[in-house]
Amino acid sequence: TVNNNPVNISIIDGKLPTVTTSTANALQFDVNNYKPLDVTVDNQTIKVRAYENIAYVANPVDTAYQSMNIYIPESYFEDKSINGYTAATAPIFMPNAVGGYMPAKPMTVGVGRDGKPNSVAQALHRGMIVASAGARGRTLKSEQGEYYGKAPAAIVDLKAAVRYLKANDGVMAGDAGKIIVNGTSAGGAMTALLGATGDSADYEPYLQKLGAAKASDSVFAVSSYCPITNLEHADMAYEWQLADVVDYKKMSISMLDYNVKRELVPGTLTDGEKQTAQALKQDFPSYVNGLKLIGHDGKLLTLDKDGNGSFKDEVLYHLNKSVNTAHKQGVDLSSYAFLAQKKSAEPYYIADYSEFLKAYTGRSKTPPAFDALDLSAGENNLFGDNATDNRHFTAFGVKHSTATDAKVADAQTVKLMNPMAYLDDKTANTALHWRIRHGAKDSDIGFAIPVILATKLANQGKNVDFAMPWDKGHGGDYDLDELFAWVDSVAK
Ligand code: DHB
Repeated sequence: TVNNNPVNISIIDGKLPTVTTSTANALQFDVNNYKPLDVTVDNQTIKVRAYENIAYVANPVDTAYQSMNIYIPESYFEDKSINGYTAATAPIFMPNAVGGYMPAKPMTVGVGRDGKPNSVAQALHRGMIVASAGARGRTLKSEQGEYYGKAPAAIVDLKAAVRYLKANDGVMAGDAGKIIVNGTSAGGAMTALLGATGDSADYEPYLQKLGAAKASDSVFAVSSYCPITNLEHADMAYEWQLADVVDYKKMSISMLDYNVKRELVPGTLTDGEKQTAQALKQDFPSYVNGLKLIGHDGKLLTLDKDGNGSFKDEVLYHLNKSVNTAHKQGVDLSSYAFLAQKKSAEPYYIADYSEFLKAYTGRSKTPPAFDALDLSAGENNLFGDNATDNRHFTAFGVKHSTATDAKVADAQTVKLMNPMAYLDDKTANTALHWRIRHGAKDSDIGFAIPVILATKLANQGKNVDFAMPWDKGHGGDYDLDELFAWVDSVAK
């Protein structure tokens, strides 16, 4: 075999059943290797070429996950256009199915959770090329007992897939200069990371080890639903919002993944948990103040030591916009006692925020929500390493750990998972266009996290479309018509 990236990850020494040996041209897109597929949306059927299970790195560790499905409308092989796009100009829609930081397979043409054709099918009908890559995740373990999907595996994999598309831009239909990534929750975090960290040298050693194509890994646009991100600040953000909400409905770690139907177990915070919540809440203002964010009306966003101030007003601004958007769509809001009205084009506002948090959004995690003191959270599991299943990743977690022999993730690995860490980094090529959604009823992560991300991007002059849709809980792809209208607006 010809391989200029010799691999030294012990787990791929031929012991995993899925390992394949690479050749120099393994990363070349083979335009003739497809099966024809009929894709139907709204009683309209189009012909599509399905290129499935393409290994997107030369030295895969696990081809069940490090593989990509690419779908190209047949029209583009007949010199026809769809929705104003041609084979040369069509954007590449790149959705991932990552959930719960678990391993994910590449997506296929199918139906979404709402029973309607999924984003893959709908994107094809709108003339997009679709490329969906799988990625390793936190639970993967070799026969030798080594973990091989811990952070930063998933983001490295997805970057390698982007590189594959860029490297093959000349032979594949579609414009790899217009890659639009899409994902939900942990998958939304992955898309935010892809958008923030384009071409950053930090990922290079990992990409080289995998034998990723030598090409750019920057992307054009990001669609991110409820990103579970900025994890090392997520515990304080959660308690800044919910410290005084002591009743919860909690899911088990196996149900973190938004793709899995949840069973919620009700409970009330213990005295110890209440103290933890208050302590975390107190750490949040200095984090926010250090960001020096500018709000929608040009004001510096700050918080006082009690957690009040213009940053809180900014979160409420987005929530109030959500309420009024629902009102304009004809949603009946009369049953919500926490709302009030004033004489205005946007009459509704949240008059009783505490009650809104208690009665509407609620709490679904116990403190610390992400770096659990007993190492039981999904994110502890994400930040394990080859030999350690679960680790802490915050100073607070380390200091208050209740686990025996608890270990802590190195700062660099934590950085590699946080898009915020790259937005001030001039060596990273950040996506120009961002569409971020976080449901007003989503309690998987604090509202502050998406607000901080969207605000930071806007402050840097990026084109940001951010909203917190009313009555949406933890999930994504619930507004595909609007999503694809947005894609057209940025890609055409
Ligand atoms: C997901 C949800 C969570 O609450 C979390 O902590 C991590 C990931 C998810 O749905 O992907």
